[in-house]
Amino acid sequence: MLKLKGSIKISGDKSISHRALIFASLCTGRVKISNLLESDDVMRTLKILTKLGIKIVKRDKNWLVFGNGTGGYIQPNQALQCGNSGTTSRLLIGAVSSNPIKCTFIGDDSLSKRPMSRLTLYLEKMGAKIELTKKDYLPLHISGDMNLIPMEHILQKASAQVKSALIFSALNLRGKTKIIETKNTRDHTEKLMEYLKIKFKKEMITKNSTSIELSGPYEIKPRDINVASDPSSAAFFIVGALIIPKSNITLKNIALNKTRIAFIDVLKKMGGKIKIKKTKTISGEDVGEINVTHSLLNGIKINASSSPYLIDEYPILSVAASQAKGITIMRGLSELRHKESDRIKSITSNLAKIGFHVISKKDDIIIKSTKKIKVKNRVKIKTYGDHRIAMSFSILNLLYENKLIIDNESCISISYPDFRKHLEMLSIL
Ligand code: S3P
Repeated sequence: MLKLKGSIKISGDKSISHRALIFASLCTGRVKISNLLESDDVMRTLKILTKLGIKIVKRDKNWLVFGNGTGGYIQPNQALQCGNSGTTSRLLIGAVSSNPIKCTFIGDDSLSKRPMSRLTLYLEKMGAKIELTKKDYLPLHISGDMNLIPMEHILQKASAQVKSALIFSALNLRGKTKIIETKNTRDHTEKLMEYLKIKFKKEMITKNSTSIELSGPYEIKPRDINVASDPSSAAFFIVGALIIPKSNITLKNIALNKTRIAFIDVLKKMGGKIKIKKTKTISGEDVGEINVTHSLLNGIKINASSSPYLIDEYPILSVAASQAKGITIMRGLSELRHKESDRIKSITSNLAKIGFHVISKKDDIIIKSTKKIKVKNRVKIKTYGDHRIAMSFSILNLLYENKLIIDNESCISISYPDFRKHLEMLSIL
């Protein structure tokens, strides 16, 4: 059987790439971005910024963004197409909201079913004029205004996208914005603000709750940004190496941000042999190497309180659980219903088709170990156009010697165009 061996550098982080482009567009001058993830989602953000009047060019492997300063977006002459990208839509709705321009945001079928009112409710309180389709969805029309009222927001849902959108809006408003997260989420926006020397105050309210205070309008001086590599993309190969006998891999340049690598603690608790070594800090993010050796895994209980930190990793953690001894229970996954697909359904229906004992009870997923499943005939895996489902089952497929037929592998380019290439680099017969 094939095994995973060797060492590679993973592609740039998706969350950081979106933010690097948007912050660069708000700087007063040229920013060089290196290791930008050139995936479909990130390219949506890049293209929309050009429609908003930002000059962006590629030079060698880097991107040069000529920022117009906060409040520097110009009136676009067409609808802004976000494709499949929730991050593009939410972050940019926030960023344009404090510019005196009118914008229409549109997306593909999946994105047009994902909720936007979780963000617009705060922007409307500030005075923004917004029209949503069926009160929650794209297409969305917004009339931006630099005179929105900066205020205090208490975020009801744990969402890094909503927090970041309100920060991008605040950077061009006169006065103080305060954002209180009742559950902490990924903090790349704050890390980039520190790196770009944007003044803000961050305070821990409790262990799991934080407040952020900032005052605009803000002049951001340009500073080049080097994007750390994506731990969520690394997660696929990490689980691959854990479940495939005789594997041993090292993944380099990975962002070791605490809000993103909670899945490694989960896998270690399951018995995974994983070593992390910090090597340096780039553009405000710690990065390092992750070494993984094949391991016998045990089932685990994951509480609902961990879900904001594991949100993108549940599909691949489910693949790990399918190969573990004992029961895995993952609780409080309601947010998975609002991702690129209803991930509770796409995880459980595909695992069940292969023959695993898997149940979804309300918002929990329970996976029971089965004696090693033998797949005799081909099983069709339905990705629902969801990149993380396609990659998770591609990893499981390594164990089943391509008996799983993945219906739409092309969606992988949404977050990781080099996935196949990197997998081939690590694969040894
Ligand atoms: C992201 C935040 C998360 C995550 C998404 C990227 C971000 O979404 O699932 O892939 O870059 O801020 P939510 O904010 O909806 O949890």
